[in-house]
Amino acid sequence: MRSLISIEELSREEIDSLISTANDIIANPKKYSELCRGKKLATLFYEPSTRTRLSFEAAMYELGGNVLGFSEAQSSSAAKGESVADTARTVSCYADIIAMRHPKEGAPFVAAQNASVPIINAGDGGHNHPTQTLADLCTISRECGRMSNLTIGCCGDLKFGRTVHSLIAAMSRYENVRFVLISPEELRVPSYVRHDILERGGIPYSETQDISEVMGELDILYMTRVQRERFFSEEEYLRLKDSYILTADKLSGAKDSLCIMHPLPRVNEISVEVDRDPRACYFKQVLYGKYMRMALILMLLGVSV
Ligand code: CP
Repeated sequence: MRSLISIEELSREEIDSLISTANDIIANPKKYSELCRGKKLATLFYEPSTRTRLSFEAAMYELGGNVLGFSEAQSSSAAKGESVADTARTVSCYADIIAMRHPKEGAPFVAAQNASVPIINAGDGGHNHPTQTLADLCTISRECGRMSNLTIGCCGDLKFGRTVHSLIAAMSRYENVRFVLISPEELRVPSYVRHDILERGGIPYSETQDISEVMGELDILYMTRVQRERFFSEEEYLRLKDSYILTADKLSGAKDSLCIMHPLPRVNEISVEVDRDPRACYFKQVLYGKYMRMALILMLLGVSV
């Protein structure tokens, strides 16, 4: 039995295979519509979510399965003090696979050690969000037409933005990928990402606070939200929250082929006028996330097509 806690647990071949399955689901949805008949997915969300929880649920329904779960800790026995380990053992009695989001880093790992069904990390604190990365990788593959020879700009809250950490880990495995890290000094990527992934892997990267000076170099611009819920100080959040707001003007020097991505939700870091730009890919990212979650559920349940 296999769980997915971090994107690094998937080989490049497995990621390519998941993208291939997602592409086949998009092309032939009927072929997949009964594959999980009689199976149940539990969504255990201790933190707010729109996309991840609902796309997991839509994914399981589109595979013919059923869904149960909770969308806030307060409506579960966590409110009475039940541990993640006991909850995972309990829900294993009711479901065939579990997707868990939790504010504490490592909680889905603890769940995986105690569950008797596969656990999928649907986001743990500021640490990992592997299924968002699967959505991102599918978007890059489909919208850029390649996974290599790319300059990827990551902009905004690179300290707490777990999607950026997972994206850097995943894209570092492809040839000739370069990162441009755009953030205020206070929100630079954590040293473990810089040292353990980029420097140890010999991956080229640069850091800047000025998005305009690098815009013309980028094949992908991955915008992120400043994560209010991870700040210790409201004053610090208010000072940094509008560090980068992407407008149509700021895109004037960008490539025609630029792919603008954002894991969403956005607050105001991408102006709504940019939504009309054909280079805006963030709502396609949302859709591809559902197909990648369908592919992942099939893989972890060992369902062959
Ligand atoms: N991208 C993402 O994780 O969105 P939600 O928080 O809405 O699930």
